[in-house]
Amino acid sequence: MRKLIVAGNWKMNTSVAEGVELAKKVSEYTVSKNLPAQKQVVIAPPFTHLAPIAQVINADKVILAAQDCAATTNGAYTGEVSASMLKGLGVKAVILGHSERRQYFKENSEILLKKIKLALAEGLDIIFCIGETKEQREAGANLYNNVIKAQLVDTVFTLTPEEFKKVIIAYEPVWAIGTGLTATPEQAQDIHAMIRKAIADNFGQAVADDTTILYGGSCKPSNAAEIFAKKDVDGGLIGGASLKADDFAKLIDAR
Ligand code: PGA
Repeated sequence: MRKLIVAGNWKMNTSVAEGVELAKKVSEYTVSKNLPAQKQVVIAPPFTHLAPIAQVINADKVILAAQDCAATTNGAYTGEVSASMLKGLGVKAVILGHSERRQYFKENSEILLKKIKLALAEGLDIIFCIGETKEQREAGANLYNNVIKAQLVDTVFTLTPEEFKKVIIAYEPVWAIGTGLTATPEQAQDIHAMIRKAIADNFGQAVADDTTILYGGSCKPSNAAEIFAKKDVDGGLIGGASLKADDFAKLIDAR
């Protein structure tokens, strides 16, 4: 089902105690709003915070997500956390393909597809991030559209339509992440429409119409409503502004 989602990607921020407090506030606010089933709130705290946060949120109202998972099931992989371990904690979704993982941890489509498959095998939803860099944007629409399409073709477009139903796409232009630069509502809409068309070409129109496509990159209370109002924008993946309960509440209201 196509949903309206506001998701907070906390990245490597907050102590466990601060994170638990923030999660409690988000949960209380979300419960107080009594949102319809189509409208969902997701938080993605660091791994260390997931277990205590699972204890304090209303899991029917707030979806607990992880920021990554391992590309292997188990064994001698020091430092890694598997999809099944996450599932055991009450995690329901995982962010994969974030540009910071692609850039700093050299995650390519081959690695990401392994992670996607393992997460799906555990029944987790996937928030799959795609987007172009500043240089690619400056090279023109032909190039950046192809870059974004290739990120889909090599990964989630190889899934079955049934598997793809568990995938939420997050369009996050790399030049807008944490930079204060936001895509204009029109720029976001253009790319979201292009992505939805690519999904239709690959899986058919019905699947495309059902897919949730989020925008991410310097979303904040002052710009979110305008971006979220666009036809093909189904919500946001929020970094910085998800760390302040008041700002995140405004973003929930903006959607
Ligand atoms: P930002 O991050 O909102 O801080 O730009 C978004 C993201 O990386 O998901």
